[in-house]
Amino acid sequence: MAAGRAFLCAPSSLSAGARRLAFACPPVRPLAAEANRRGRGRCYCATSVSDAPASAQQNYVLTTPLYYVNAPPHMGSAYTTIAADAIARFQRLLDKRVIFITGTDEHGEKIATSAEACGRNPKDHCDTISNSYKMLWADLDIGYDKFIRTTDPKHEAVVNDFYSRVLNSGDIYRADYEGLYCVSCEEYKDEKELMENKCCTVHLKPCVPRKEDNYFFALSKYQHQLEDLLMRNPNFVRPSHRLNEVQGWIKSGLRDFSISRASVEWGIPVPNDTKQTIYVWFDALLGYISALLDDGEKASLQHAVEHGWPASLHLIGKDILRFHAVYWPAMLMSAGISVPDAVFGHGFLTKDGMKMGKSLGNTLEPKDLVNRFGADAVRYFFLREVEFGNDGDYSEERFINIVNAHLANTIGNLLNRTLGLLKKNCKSTLSVDSIAAADGNPLKNNVENLVDKAKDQFENLLLSSACETLLEIGNLGNLYIDEQAPWSCFKQGGEHAEKAAKDLVIILETMRIISIALSPITPGLSLRIYTQLGFTEDQFRALRWEDTKWGGLKAGQVMMEPKPVFARIETETEEKDQSSPKTTKGGKKKARSEGLVGA
Ligand code: MSP
Repeated sequence: MAAGRAFLCAPSSLSAGARRLAFACPPVRPLAAEANRRGRGRCYCATSVSDAPASAQQNYVLTTPLYYVNAPPHMGSAYTTIAADAIARFQRLLDKRVIFITGTDEHGEKIATSAEACGRNPKDHCDTISNSYKMLWADLDIGYDKFIRTTDPKHEAVVNDFYSRVLNSGDIYRADYEGLYCVSCEEYKDEKELMENKCCTVHLKPCVPRKEDNYFFALSKYQHQLEDLLMRNPNFVRPSHRLNEVQGWIKSGLRDFSISRASVEWGIPVPNDTKQTIYVWFDALLGYISALLDDGEKASLQHAVEHGWPASLHLIGKDILRFHAVYWPAMLMSAGISVPDAVFGHGFLTKDGMKMGKSLGNTLEPKDLVNRFGADAVRYFFLREVEFGNDGDYSEERFINIVNAHLANTIGNLLNRTLGLLKKNCKSTLSVDSIAAADGNPLKNNVENLVDKAKDQFENLLLSSACETLLEIGNLGNLYIDEQAPWSCFKQGGEHAEKAAKDLVIILETMRIISIALSPITPGLSLRIYTQLGFTEDQFRALRWEDTKWGGLKAGQVMMEPKPVFARIETETEEKDQSSPKTTKGGKKKARSEGLVGA
């Protein structure tokens, strides 16, 4: 194998962009616009330089994995996308120019086999399943900006360009390969990674022996550059325990991997050898770049990269970390393209400790959960209950308890009873500005500190902690109303009633702040709260994180008619206890008792 190209520092007299290009990849066309758009030089060496125009809106390019279309989505696939949507919404609140990319991975043996099993041709099969992802994302309130399908012609053009670049770098060669292949992972496995009966540890299915004449990517050439990347930027792989895992793989020595398949027809043909197709991962990873192209524009790698590459964050499950944190950066280095800022590998949703998935058939139907409980409940439960980065088991009982306690009681009830009191005693109108109402009141400071804390947690992808912090604000609001008891102060009249009217303003301002800060997690609920506070939907859509600052509610603002913003989930047991009729009514959702359902 030829020696690796050294990614050394270029002379410091060059501009940041030019410097990166000088050392990045001599044989290929420079991607100057990429560095400029990005606003900073991308360097795998220590001297990273900022040349961002001070006023430019910062990009935030965020991706989910591109989901295999072998079967419709399940809760495991939805989990990554919900988390990504929450992060994207938070970054938009920070006024970043967010490009949230998702999509479907449609080539390869696994997809061809599943299409055949359904009696469909691969294209029809991909259209059907890809569409089911789009429909689920709509149900879950997922606001992606780009949806890429790896069968899009624009994607194929980008893959071709990329392949040529890597070829020009001298990193592709032909050789025979013999090994054990897991079709579900679409990956050759090392025998020592497998279970005793040669089964894959993720899918519990036997790997099949394969022998092929393939094209290979010279991954081993990039060992040092990858070590260097991780040493200089330990945040490249998150959470930190996954960094150790990646460092371990690299340290144990990187082997070149095969990037074509002679036996698979359903794929992008290898340029100059149409008897082979490009390996599904060498194809799909490029979707993160091809997604950036606008519809109808000239499809090329160069153009795509100019639209905002590199990604700020790839959000993935831990099972595909090696592809994203080892193969992908090496591929990009070979093609002279910047590596992404970070890869975050979250844990699995499990059932009885096993990864929930299509292959094991132990999935939970997200569509069913949304139909029964609504998108906000589903989004909130999984982001609040599963520590982002770790595994988490689903239990319906826990789902109902959490959602009822936090969203229906702590938040929904507090708003409802406050608005009820305001209607009864103040004609639904605020008597003073929220700033004046909270003058000298420690609640205001506490709320502000908690909002700052939540911001920090969102920025560090501690989504569960952010939810917890925001709920703490709700708890403070409940405590405050209980302690101040405005209902009895109104009865006393005079100064007491004035104080009670101020207290209602304080609580409603607290609710306003919660609704903004929680909107990345529960966008629908937040909108309902915000409009009950007398604002319009357009005003809600225009909000930024800085609007969480205390003081948004002003004297004279008229609140809407109090209506429950979150329907409490009523279980069948509760219904029996109350001997109430078994129909859903008045702000209550009825839960059936299924837990996990088979795929
Ligand atoms: N097609 C590849 C990704 C290519 S990205 C260029 C793939 N697809 S997948 O459909 O099998 O998985 C997509 C994502 O869903 C992965 O991040 C995976 O970890 C995630 N999940 C699938 N089941 C999951 C759980 N049970 N729990 C959490 N996430 C899981 O891999």
